[in-house]
Amino acid sequence: MADKEVSTRGNWNSKVGFVLAAAGSAVGLGNIWRFPTEAASNGGGAFLLIYLICCFLIGYPVMMAEIAIGRRTGKNPVGAFKALSSNKLYPLIGMWGVLCGIMILSFYTVVAGWTFSYVFEEIFFAAGMNDWATWISNTGNGWLNAIFSVAFMACTISIIRGGVSDGIERATKTLMPLLFGILLLLIGYVIMQPGSSEGLAVYLQPDFSKINANLIFAAMGQAFFSLSLGMGALITYGSYLSRKENVPQAAALVTFTDTLVAFLAGLLILPAMYLAQAKGITIFQDGQFVAGPDLIFQVLPALFHDIGGLLGAIVGVTFFALLSMAALTSTISLLEVPVSYAIDEFEVPRKRAAMLIGIGILVISLIISFNTALIGWFDYIFSAIGLPLGGILISLFVAYAWKTENAFDELELGNNNFRHSIVGKTWKIFIMIICPLVILFNLLRSF
Ligand code: PFF
Repeated sequence: MADKEVSTRGNWNSKVGFVLAAAGSAVGLGNIWRFPTEAASNGGGAFLLIYLICCFLIGYPVMMAEIAIGRRTGKNPVGAFKALSSNKLYPLIGMWGVLCGIMILSFYTVVAGWTFSYVFEEIFFAAGMNDWATWISNTGNGWLNAIFSVAFMACTISIIRGGVSDGIERATKTLMPLLFGILLLLIGYVIMQPGSSEGLAVYLQPDFSKINANLIFAAMGQAFFSLSLGMGALITYGSYLSRKENVPQAAALVTFTDTLVAFLAGLLILPAMYLAQAKGITIFQDGQFVAGPDLIFQVLPALFHDIGGLLGAIVGVTFFALLSMAALTSTISLLEVPVSYAIDEFEVPRKRAAMLIGIGILVISLIISFNTALIGWFDYIFSAIGLPLGGILISLFVAYAWKTENAFDELELGNNNFRHSIVGKTWKIFIMIICPLVILFNLLRSF
């Protein structure tokens, strides 16, 4: 494999650049609005522990496999499978990944647009323009959804047009530290408020009696979506990684960062929910925590409005800016997958590929904008089923078609003797047997 060929497609400038970009893909809406309530409803600290185990035992091996495939071939997900095997069926795994990327991006853009519209909602509310605030935050208004989807997709396209190091790496190097800083500031503010400690206790105190098969499977599904696995996003990002770098270590850093942000998001959301409850805002419905869009777009804005004044506006605006940034670092990875496919396989110049594919996906987002009930369906088919299915196929491909010995050759660049280390030996068992079986079991259960 000529390194020159790889470098013409673009390269990360540094390992930090790769880790931040991959962590940016992983850290997204999933971490901030799904993880905390899922943890609180399912045994708090006990769920957290199971989630950590799922991320590191099931997610981490698959992540290493994806990055190894990408870096070995220096190709998009479809081209990578073509390069590693002459069997014409294997590139279908990459095709499935590209399709999942397109479909997930189409609905993710609409939801990301909502988080962006709420930045304005908070500003209007603080300015006393309540009617405007109510109008702009109406997620049932198709035209508004469409406008914010266009705005969000425009940001995503403009970053992808910039290329790997000047676009994706530069954007994530700015956005990720900012996201981290905002998250810490908001946590600091919320947990200083009287009444927040009840939320902390619910989040952190382990209730081991709640651990059962359903909980373990819920934790695994969440881990998979949250780590951006199963659709070749990390094959693509891995294809821009230098051969000097230590893949097992970089993958560990990405997994660690994603779980850290999910954990921190819980320190923000749960105390905030209990603050909201103390102010008379409903946080339980039918015995369950209000979760997902209702939590983010009703409970928390009600809390920010109750804080009121300049402080309420600052907290509200920064919270929705945080969500928008987390979403943006994920949407760029989702768009990069089909764009890299078009660049490698059809020799479309990057700028044109980003524009054409971005606009094509936006057309689907516009349909969803007027039919938001589709979001649940798309999420079910392409995230809940599509990503684990891709994860099983990628694991089986590495284990039995490409073969772990070849994968080890790749993983040992930058990590001498990895195959003989404990992590290396464990990885082999997991990628050959445990990951595919456990993910398959989880998938069958979801039917
Ligand atoms: N990991 C993202 C989140 O937690 O919101 C979602 C995601 C992004 C999934 C990119 C898959 C992907 F390729």
